[in-house]
Amino acid sequence: MAEECKMADALMEAWREFTLSAEQFGRIVEDFAASIEDGLSQRPSPLQMLPAYIGRPAGDEAGVYLSLDFGGTNLRVAEVELAGKNKPSIRKLHRVSLKDADAGYDYTGADTNVRELFAFIARQVAVVAGGQERLLGHSFSYASRQTALGRASFLGWAKEIKVSGLAGQDINDLLAEELARQQAAAVRPVAVLNDTTATLLAAAYLCPDADLGSVCGTGHNTAYYEPQPRHGQPDRVMAYNPESGGFDRLSRSRFDEELDRDSDSPGRQRLEKMVAGRYLGELVRRILQAGRGDCGMQFIDEIPCLSHPDGLSSVDVAWFVGDRSKELEHIDAWLKEKLPGRPASLAERHFIKAVAELVAERAATLVAASYAGFLRRLDPQRRRRHAIGVNGSLYEKMPGFAEGIQVALTRFGGWPATQVEFLVVEEAPLVGAAIAAAIAGREEATR
Ligand code: BGC
Repeated sequence: MAEECKMADALMEAWREFTLSAEQFGRIVEDFAASIEDGLSQRPSPLQMLPAYIGRPAGDEAGVYLSLDFGGTNLRVAEVELAGKNKPSIRKLHRVSLKDADAGYDYTGADTNVRELFAFIARQVAVVAGGQERLLGHSFSYASRQTALGRASFLGWAKEIKVSGLAGQDINDLLAEELARQQAAAVRPVAVLNDTTATLLAAAYLCPDADLGSVCGTGHNTAYYEPQPRHGQPDRVMAYNPESGGFDRLSRSRFDEELDRDSDSPGRQRLEKMVAGRYLGELVRRILQAGRGDCGMQFIDEIPCLSHPDGLSSVDVAWFVGDRSKELEHIDAWLKEKLPGRPASLAERHFIKAVAELVAERAATLVAASYAGFLRRLDPQRRRRHAIGVNGSLYEKMPGFAEGIQVALTRFGGWPATQVEFLVVEEAPLVGAAIAAAIAGREEATR
């Protein structure tokens, strides 16, 4: 029987499916911009267009605030000092995991009730507050429907959290009740906002051109300032959280379809499943599996992380993409560690690297297309300068990812780097949450 060499076929298929043409890019931009308008106008849209009830910071907000960043299994509480035009500073930072096998707790699973989770969170806030009276801003990295800056009802978990009982509850009320129970009622949660809105505020505090705030990490989403809001005061710009990871007017490969079908939430978060850190490893793993044949990758079933769903992480993908050595020694070392005694051929190593690059590059290009969709809405004549605040491990750590976004935005979107600037604000969700608390405090005082 003839040998079956599937690596080349799998690579060709992935290359065909994962490389976007200028025309495809342009169509996504148009569809994305149209979906924003549809969502704002209450027509069916893949974008939820959730109003954030917060505008641009004045830039002179000052004082000491508490920030809570609840974005996944790691919780962070900080004391942040805002000093007007100067850079904000983080005075205290307390990080804690929501699960710790050694300490015998796990607040992430469906068997945890939301009260237990929020009691745990309130205890962490109390540690940082140390009995002081403080306003608190809460950066919450899940979809929630706001009716005011301090009021948000939960819409649904994504990523790793499955805690029960939060549906429809007000996030701030829950936190305030648990803070009171922990004798920390001097801390008043006054603002709750999506992590992308917080990232947007952090960028806008320092740069007046900022009108997009995006997270490229475990999850993906981008918030923006809408000049003609349909909520709140129509004459004042307002931040909206579109939950852009839910955008779905995209052509998908069979690898995307299969990943979605096997996920916890089939049919949801289509864009997120193509671009976010939570999924890139799994996409790479599925393509590598397709390359297993007589001429290579036969070892794949012997490496547990390559044979089990979610076995490969975006950290592994970053390692493959970042291997710039001639003989791909880093990939070789990775394989040797996973499967000692089975040397991989150079062709196999090149296959792994090429697949990882294709998946990471497509992610960067799709993210760029969504940014171009926002920019098309905000500035169709391309007259202004724009800044995009970005936060997240993928953006900061995946080799070539940030450059890939910028290149695609210029080449396909026609937005040169001289017109669109990217801003990484250190600890943006914490800083943005503190700014939101300051704005809420000001609004309270003038009421
Ligand atoms: C959530 C968004 C969040 C994004 C980035 C997504 O899974 O639905 O609300 O902004 O992750 O953290």
